[in-house]
Amino acid sequence: MDTENSPTVNFGCPAHHAPKAQDPYAFYHEWTDAPPISRLAGGRWLVTQHADVLHLLNHPACQRWGVDDTSIGRCLAALAPHTSLHERLLSQFSMRALSNHTAAMEQYATSLLTSLDHRHPIDLMRDYAHPFTFTAICRVLGVPIKDIAELCHMAQDLPYLQALVAPAPYPQRVEAFLDYWRTLMAAPPIESVLMELGTLYPDTDAEFKVQLGLLLLYAGHVNMMNFIGLALLALAHHSEKIEMITDELILSLLRFDSPVQYIPIIASDEIDVHGTSIAAGEEILLAIGSAHRDTKYYQDPHTLNLNDNNNILSFGAGPYRCLGARLAQLQGRIALQQFIAHFPDYRILENDIVWRTVPMIQRGMTTMPAELTG
Ligand code: HEM
Repeated sequence: MDTENSPTVNFGCPAHHAPKAQDPYAFYHEWTDAPPISRLAGGRWLVTQHADVLHLLNHPACQRWGVDDTSIGRCLAALAPHTSLHERLLSQFSMRALSNHTAAMEQYATSLLTSLDHRHPIDLMRDYAHPFTFTAICRVLGVPIKDIAELCHMAQDLPYLQALVAPAPYPQRVEAFLDYWRTLMAAPPIESVLMELGTLYPDTDAEFKVQLGLLLLYAGHVNMMNFIGLALLALAHHSEKIEMITDELILSLLRFDSPVQYIPIIASDEIDVHGTSIAAGEEILLAIGSAHRDTKYYQDPHTLNLNDNNNILSFGAGPYRCLGARLAQLQGRIALQQFIAHFPDYRILENDIVWRTVPMIQRGMTTMPAELTG
């Protein structure tokens, strides 16, 4: 099939318009009988099935969308596979390096959980998922411990992606956060990941290092926070199956409800997908959430179970696979294990969940009220 005659699907922006944010899966279900590749109304391609998404993530002609001369583009180029920064971060986020942080993460989870007032509903995002994940990534990056609590407060629902993708001026809250970050990056703590950024890029402008540090913070915080929220929601429905939070269960939870629903990529050369020709320069949206519910790939994809987690796509795949995947699994295990040990009978007040509607490639909630004791 050539590009001219390929089907055009009027999805516009796929499943994440406000009404779909709560349950995009019902919407993906409609794609089961649709062609595996289709044109979105805006001109991008949409690929929905697991085998194709995995193939394209590993395809040498698929680059990451956004690698251009914008500040985020420059940061993504610096992080790309085989760069010095990529290699350094792989080693900084190795299991061995991360083992230094395990005890501190466990202690912090316990201190957060014991300070919760279990007589009243709490907001699981504000009171647990946000502070736990923000603090964890700050410690791993090397933000001074004395600053983290205040910074965490400032970062609550902060649109700090704006500072990465939009030009100044920024809202006052974003500016205040950036000011702290600029001061920190001008003199980062010794032997920290942040200091390595300065060492690897001694000749680049200061603002580039600020953006790079901020991108790491963002990458390490937001997907992780969303994952804890989605996982606690899923586990609340499946409490009879939880005995222990294992790495297997973490992968299954990521497959069942992924905090990353789409990975945008760009063809650097002509690519053929099921006979459809994608020209160099065209954008493709890989539908991760839909691929994770692909009945041709998983036995029982609409159920959370421990067997269906082969080749999960939440972290991407291939050379660009998420650099923080090990950190994410470690944090996920600690956060969920501790939560369930403290509050095995928690109940989510589902009608009061507030879902995020932007950016559409991510899935998560801003507010998720819960009663902690049954
Ligand atoms: C559940 C949590 C997380 C999810 C679902 C997730 C997902 C992803 C995805 C889908 C990508 C893009 C992969 C691709 O383009 O093929 C990515 C890239 C990245 N992630 Fe994660 N991530 C998570 C946690 C983390 C953490 C904790 C860090 C720590 C800093 C991190 C750092 C990064 C970085 C630096 C990149 C860019 C890599 C590159 O461009 O080469 N992520 N992540």
